[in-house]
Amino acid sequence: MIKLISVDELRPGMFIHRLDVWWLKEKGASGQTLIGDLRQISRIQAQGIRHLWIDLDKTVPPPASLPPQRKSQPESPFISELSCARRILQEGKPKVRSMFNEARMGHRLNLSWALPLVDKIAGSVHRYPSALLSVARLKNHDDYIWLHSMAVCGLMISLAQQLKLDDEQVRRVGLGGLLHDVGKAAIPLDILNKPGKLSDKEFELMKEHPVTGAQMLLEAGAAEDLIDIALHHHEKIDGSGYPHGLKGGEITLYSRMAAVCDVYDAITSIRPYKEGWNPAEAMHRMANWHGHFDRAVFHAFVKQLGIYPVGSLVRLASGSVALVVQPGKASLLRPDVHVFWSLRAQREIKPERAVTATILLSARKRRACGDISILIRSGCWRARKLPAAEIYQDLNNFTELRL
Ligand SMILES: [Fe+2]
Repeated sequence: MIKLISVDELRPGMFIHRLDVWWLKEKGASGQTLIGDLRQISRIQAQGIRHLWIDLDKTVPPPASLPPQRKSQPESPFISELSCARRILQEGKPKVRSMFNEARMGHRLNLSWALPLVDKIAGSVHRYPSALLSVARLKNHDDYIWLHSMAVCGLMISLAQQLKLDDEQVRRVGLGGLLHDVGKAAIPLDILNKPGKLSDKEFELMKEHPVTGAQMLLEAGAAEDLIDIALHHHEKIDGSGYPHGLKGGEITLYSRMAAVCDVYDAITSIRPYKEGWNPAEAMHRMANWHGHFDRAVFHAFVKQLGIYPVGSLVRLASGSVALVVQPGKASLLRPDVHVFWSLRAQREIKPERAVTATILLSARKRRACGDISILIRSGCWRARKLPAAEIYQDLNNFTELRL
C-alpha cells in the first residue's frame, strides 16, 4: 500500500516509493529507497522536501538500537527554505563564475551545467518563492554578477509562473535569465566594477554586451530563445532601448520579462556605484517609468512579488516592525511578515512564524520608524538604533538571515 506522509513522519525502516518533487534529480534521492538511518532522513529534509510517498508493504521495523527521536522545534517553511536557497546559490556561484571566466578568455561557452542549476533554483522558487530571492538580493561587489544572473533566473521563473507559462517554458525563461548578461564577460573589469558613474564612452562600451552575449550563445549552439533574451533584455517598450530600439510587440515576451526582472534585481542590489533601493520603493519607481516596461508583464510581476516585496521593512498596526517574507495570497496589501521588533518596548521580539499583517504606513511614512535597524550576523538577530537615513542601507547589507 502506498501512502503519502510528511517528511517529519519519515523513520528508518520506511521504504520510499516516490519523492513527489519534479525538480529533484540528485542521484540516490529520486528513486525507490529503504531508509536505513537518520542521516538519510536529514539529507532528504535538507533538500527541502515536505512530503513523500512510502510503500507500507516494503517497510520494515526500525533497528532496535536506534536512539529515541527528539522533538525539535518546528521551523517555518520560509526559514527552512532560506538555508536550501543559500546552499543552491553557494553551489551555483562557482559555476556561473567559471562560465564568465571562460568567456572572458575567449573560450566557447559550455552550458551543460546550466539547466541542472535552473532546476534547483526552480525547485526553491516553487517551494517558497521569496526565500531564494531574499538571499540573492544580498550581494557584495565581488559576487554581484554571478548572484545577479541567478537572481534574474529566479525572478524569471517566478514571473513565468504568474504568467501561467508551462513547465518547459518556465525552464527556458529561467535559463535565459541565468545567461542573459553573459556578454558582460567581454567588458573590461575596471569598467564592469567601476566605483562610480560610467563615462559616455564607457557606457557605450557597456551597451555592447547584449550583442556580444548573443554572439557567444550563438557560437555555443544555444537555442534561439536564449539568444533573444541575451540580445534584447535592454529593449524598452517605447523603442528607446538598445541595441536595436525595438518597440512593443517587436520585443518577444521572454525579453519583455527579462527587462523587468533585470532592472528590478539591479536597482534593489548594491552596485559598485549605487546603494540598492528598498524593494517597495523600487516597485513604486518602476511603476512610474512610462514607456520602459510592458505594462501587462510588469503588473504580473507586481502581483507575483507584491506591493511590499520580500525584504521590505514594515511597521505594523500592533506597533511592531517586521520583515516581509511573502506576498499576501488574498491581498497585495497584506503580505506575510516576520515580526521582530517592538517599537513600544524598544526591544527585540522573539522571531515568530510568518503571520499575515496589515501594513499601517505608506512607504514614505515607514521612514518614521527609522530609528530601528536590524543587523543579522552570525546566525542571530540583533537590533540597534540608527538614524532613519541608514535603515534601508543596513537592510540591504545583511549577509545572513537565519533565525
Ligand atoms: Fe544586461
